[in-house]
Amino acid sequence: MADNFNKGMARNIYYGGGVFFFLLLLGLTFDTMLELPERDHRENITEAVAHGKEIWENNNCIGCHSLMGEGAYFAPELANVYDRYGAGNEEAFKQFMQSWMAMQPLPTEGRRKMPQFNLSEEEVNALTDFLIWTSRIDDNDWPPNKQG
Ligand code: HEC
Repeated sequence: MADNFNKGMARNIYYGGGVFFFLLLLGLTFDTMLELPERDHRENITEAVAHGKEIWENNNCIGCHSLMGEGAYFAPELANVYDRYGAGNEEAFKQFMQSWMAMQPLPTEGRRKMPQFNLSEEEVNALTDFLIWTSRIDDNDWPPNKQG
């Protein structure tokens, strides 16, 4: 076998493999791009959702939290925080978010602290809309359990 394996064959495997996997990458990228609109329901991105995302970014929430598994692992996953505390009721979740954001940092000793961001009621509502929209993205049921 070693005698029959020459430079030409090695080159063909190198180029052939390169082309094959590059085409595979293109195909999978194309497939992902086609599927994304069905999964993320981008038609539901209202101005409030977009504004909420901006507030999310400006305050670096991802510096402590993860969203659909991406981000920091200091604080709870928030892609499903709406399922955790809203249980399908948007109004109840909005109220939870208003009081949660107002209460920070919690005085409890021994718990990790979340800072006080001093956001307005309107800003927290926008953040809430963003988190509700995020929770409805079809991300193959990530995270695997309700607690995140
Ligand atoms: C410095 C780190 C840090 C940053 C930045 C941060 N958080 Fe938190 N957050 C925490 C910690 C720690 C907890 C858990 C606190 C606890 O349970 O007492 C938490 C909990 C939460 C919860 C409740 C989650 C649950 O399942 O109990 C929500 C909602 C939340 N954060 C939203 C936000 C938003 C929105 C932002 C950005 C505006 C943000 N956080 C930025 C640290 C942070």
